[in-house]
Amino acid sequence: MPRGAVIRFYDQFGARQDHQAWYEKPALDALVDHAGFDTCGHVVEFGCGTGQLAADCLARHLTGRAVWTATDASATMCRLAADRLARFGNRARVIHTDGSPALPVTDGDADRVVSTYVLDLMDKNDILTLLADAHRVLIPGGLLCLTGLTFGSTPLSRLTVALWRRIYRNNPVRVGGCRPLDMAQWLDPERWQMVTNQTVTARGLVPSAVVVAKRLPNPHNGRP
Ligand SMILES: C[S@@+](CC[C@H](N)C(=O)[O-])C[C@H]1O[C@@H](n2cnc3c(N)ncnc32)[C@H](O)[C@@H]1O
Repeated sequence: MPRGAVIRFYDQFGARQDHQAWYEKPALDALVDHAGFDTCGHVVEFGCGTGQLAADCLARHLTGRAVWTATDASATMCRLAADRLARFGNRARVIHTDGSPALPVTDGDADRVVSTYVLDLMDKNDILTLLADAHRVLIPGGLLCLTGLTFGSTPLSRLTVALWRRIYRNNPVRVGGCRPLDMAQWLDPERWQMVTNQTVTARGLVPSAVVVAKRLPNPHNGRP
């Protein structure tokens, strides 16, 4: 779906996003297991939705000194996230973006970049631009942490994905503009070292990719 249509969809969808937890939660738990949030100082999230992951991590996984910058292109989602994260004071901030695949922080300012169930809404150019920007804002050794809908690895999950893709082709709005992706294919091995790339299948039906990759120094130019 075009970027504007995606943003309009999530402006309308709002808090209903939290009802997707039944298939997102197992993958988000696996992501948290590999993200090392307990040792980081600044997490930047692209496409934070209602702020559910940020709230959970700030409450349970980050130290009291760590800060979470949550961004989203939907005004509705930003409002919901800001309300949910208000109790964390200046440990959390929500930034409403214009939908550009970019992170509104300076070079090397983050030690985690997180994006869950967002790349699967974006076109290839936007994905590649976002990944290049994640490389820019992460410190060397910082972690890129992604989840998203992916291809099935069991007969039942392959069937689910086949049905999902058919709906997506006919009317992408009915599946929120998401389609299954192999996210790891976009990570250049000269710039990212894979920490984990696994498929977590919720209730045996909906497969999600969980990808955590370490930022390597810039290849060839000797700069960090
Ligand atoms: C499927 S929801 C996922 C929300 C949340 N990350 C989660 O896991 O529940 C996708 C979110 O990405 C946001 N989004 C979509 N395209 C975006 C873009 N180009 N820039 C920033 N946010 C975007 C939507 O507004 C929505 O909040």
